[in-house]
Amino acid sequence: MKILVIGSGGREHALIWKLKQSPLVTDIFCAPGNAGIAQLSACISLKSSDPSAIIKFVKEKHIDLTVIGPEQPLVSGLTDVLEENGQKVFGPSKAAAQLEGSKVFSKNFMQRNKIPTARFRSFQRDEFDAAQAYLSEIQIPCVVKADGLAAGKGVLICHSYRDAVGALEEVMVKNSFGAAGDLTVVEEFLEGEEASVFALTDGENIAILASAQDHKRILDGDLGKNTGGMGAYAPAPVVSADLMFRIKRDIVVPTLEGMKREGVPYRGCLYVGLMITAQGPKVLEYNCRFGDPETQVVVPLIDGDLAEIFLSIAERRLQPSQVKIHPASAVCVVMVSQGYPDAYQTGKKIAGLDTLRANEGIIVFHASTKEEGGAIVSAGGRVLGVTAIGYRNELDRTIQSAYRAVEQISFDGAYYRSDIGKKALKRLSTHEL
Ligand code: AMP
Ligand code: GLY
Repeated sequence: MKILVIGSGGREHALIWKLKQSPLVTDIFCAPGNAGIAQLSACISLKSSDPSAIIKFVKEKHIDLTVIGPEQPLVSGLTDVLEENGQKVFGPSKAAAQLEGSKVFSKNFMQRNKIPTARFRSFQRDEFDAAQAYLSEIQIPCVVKADGLAAGKGVLICHSYRDAVGALEEVMVKNSFGAAGDLTVVEEFLEGEEASVFALTDGENIAILASAQDHKRILDGDLGKNTGGMGAYAPAPVVSADLMFRIKRDIVVPTLEGMKREGVPYRGCLYVGLMITAQGPKVLEYNCRFGDPETQVVVPLIDGDLAEIFLSIAERRLQPSQVKIHPASAVCVVMVSQGYPDAYQTGKKIAGLDTLRANEGIIVFHASTKEEGGAIVSAGGRVLGVTAIGYRNELDRTIQSAYRAVEQISFDGAYYRSDIGKKALKRLSTHEL
């Protein structure tokens, strides 16, 4: 089987790492990829925003399956264009990807389908006064969200009424998020611990992967600015077996059944971002793809042939028994460039990668790297996702081994959080008491 993967980050590196283990796979191409991905597959400089170039490539190379990693091409309809050209694709259609592409669509969908989520209202650009009036109806803190894709920046948590009015001005008046702010959601703030759940589905059949927890803030203790993700671990003890049962019954199944009933069957990976509140799990957001950096910890725990799983989803014949989960734990520590998520420098030479290559239980996924004169150098804010795999009931040791590996890697200005997984350890130790 020949596979084309679209994307260039740690998520795509992790997917390719797993796809490559399939005996069915003969060739993997990645567009555009990075220096780590280049060690496993042929990287090609196709743009995901150029569907005709992708179709030409897929036909010329006789690609059997295209796997689309990031949200933008999914929301823009790359799946539809490829399928119209007779190609097999892992990733939802444009209509189904609206679950991520439009927060108003997803909130209204959840309301219609009685899926637990924060109370909300949505407003058009010319409804500023109504939006401001709604602030007095809900409690502060509250959350203001631009409707469309905004590279993770369109969510504004407001801790005072003044903050909230300022956030409405940003989205609705100052137009800080462009067309993504043509509609605005205002919703109640949910208290609790966050977790991510991924469901693989062909529209009918569902396989749920290990739960995971991302670490979005730049500093230890979940402080400082929001980032693309500073680390993750799986499984997340906050999602007990009982809670996972409820999440599947009350959220995942009604979501997929609702999409099917409404004529937009969802196929691919459904990412459910959850807040585990005192009233139970509630949906913060849906994403129409795998999470980053959660993929780096969730995919290594899949006991199954990922190429066959993705192909059977593309061919609408998934059997949930194809997807088993290893009784293991995984921890990913993301190493970033100094200054990230603000301005940072790139082109820093990375040392220590070769020493780790032979290290059993450690995988270094590249988020943003490139090859320059025979060396691997940083090429973005998030640079590497150093991932350790260990026994399920020894998360503390898995965390330690991830950090031991991190200490062997160096580049000028490298920064990482030192508390990835700590929340899970705290929860595990309280359970044991
Ligand atoms: P979203 O892109 O909608 O997931 O929002 C990004 C992040 O903002 C989430 O991962 C949460 O940390 C936070 N967030 C979003 N909505 C809420 C909410 N209603 N209550 C509390 N935190 C939220
Ligand atoms: N880990 C957050 C995301 O992938 O959107």
